[in-house]
Amino acid sequence: MPGAIYAEGLVKTFGDVRALDGVDLDVPEGAVLGLLGPNGAGKTTAVRCLTTLLRPDSGKAVVAGVDVLRHPDAVRRSIGLSGQFAAVDEYLTGRENLQMVGQLYQMRAKAAKARAAELLEQFHLVDAADRPAKTYSGGMRRRLDLAAALVVSPPVMFMDEPTTGLDPRNRQQLWEVIKQLVSGGTTLLLTTQYLEEADHLAHDIAVVDHGRVIAQGTSDELKARTGGERVEVVVQDRERMATAAEVLRGFGKGETAVEEHTRRLTVPVTGGAKLLAEIIRELDTRGIGIDDIGLRRPTLDDVFLSLTGHAAQGADGDQPDAPGERKTRDERSERNERNGKEAVK
Ligand SMILES: Nc1ncnc2c1ncn2[C@@H]1O[C@H](COP(=O)(O)OP(=O)(O)O)[C@@H](O)[C@H]1O
Ligand SMILES: [Mg+2]
Repeated sequence: MPGAIYAEGLVKTFGDVRALDGVDLDVPEGAVLGLLGPNGAGKTTAVRCLTTLLRPDSGKAVVAGVDVLRHPDAVRRSIGLSGQFAAVDEYLTGRENLQMVGQLYQMRAKAAKARAAELLEQFHLVDAADRPAKTYSGGMRRRLDLAAALVVSPPVMFMDEPTTGLDPRNRQQLWEVIKQLVSGGTTLLLTTQYLEEADHLAHDIAVVDHGRVIAQGTSDELKARTGGERVEVVVQDRERMATAAEVLRGFGKGETAVEEHTRRLTVPVTGGAKLLAEIIRELDTRGIGIDDIGLRRPTLDDVFLSLTGHAAQGADGDQPDAPGERKTRDERSERNERNGKEAVK
């Protein structure tokens, strides 16, 4: 019996680009899967295929027990989607937006009104409830977007980079809301570029790169698989980083990560404290001053680096709508038309 979200061999190409190159997923009911990957990995394409917005070239998808390709309408009725293709109307107030969604789902006016009031409360939007959405800050818009996806409490939710571009305080607030939501039994697939977010919210993490799931497991399993400890050094003088990297390479058991702006170098090791002492001596012999040095357990960042050969964050390019970005109604419907062009009919 497949889970609440199930995909097998999903392939989607755009011309020469193989956005999905055989994606397999299986998310049990009530679980949270974090789909983690750099920009262009295929996260949004996967979400769009699973939510009926895009038809895969091949493969199979089942959501909430329903075949996505055969019965897209039935799937749409049992899912909520928030993120890059959000449907907030700028000219309506927060309250009106939520009531409108309720009515689209055929709720009675009174019930839609009550549900909107409940969500405004839950998402800390009561004070702004009767202002047009276009006056909202980035964080408020994200919260309204998420609230809109929850009007009918769907059993399966998809969130595409729900907190990209938010400041840490807003991100934390949204995490709390998401935790509340999943404590109620909702199955959630969440995409993110933030390893910390996946670590915080997801039971299970699937790392995606080049349209494929390259590793999957709990955060601890992935860290254990990456293995060993890390030596982390902050050198005093940026000019000496290349030499320091050379020293670390001599002791390390894998790729040395060099972070110019923080003057930090990290290398996986086996050998613990004894090795640490040797490294300190060698750096000293070469006359390299150090601000800080220590041993630590691997983080998800290390997992990502060792799996993909590059860091997860800081990539540029295609981002979800920037917070506070204001689109006119026409621009938006034009964009939605483009996005909907390949929707499953
Ligand atoms: N509509 C499209 N037309 C052409 N290429 C696309 C389209 N959508 C996505 N792609 C390409 O597919 C790849 C995966 O994109 P996407 O799923 O948006 O990645 P992510 O969400 O992980 O950043 C990228 O190379 C992207 O440029
Ligand atoms: Mg994306």
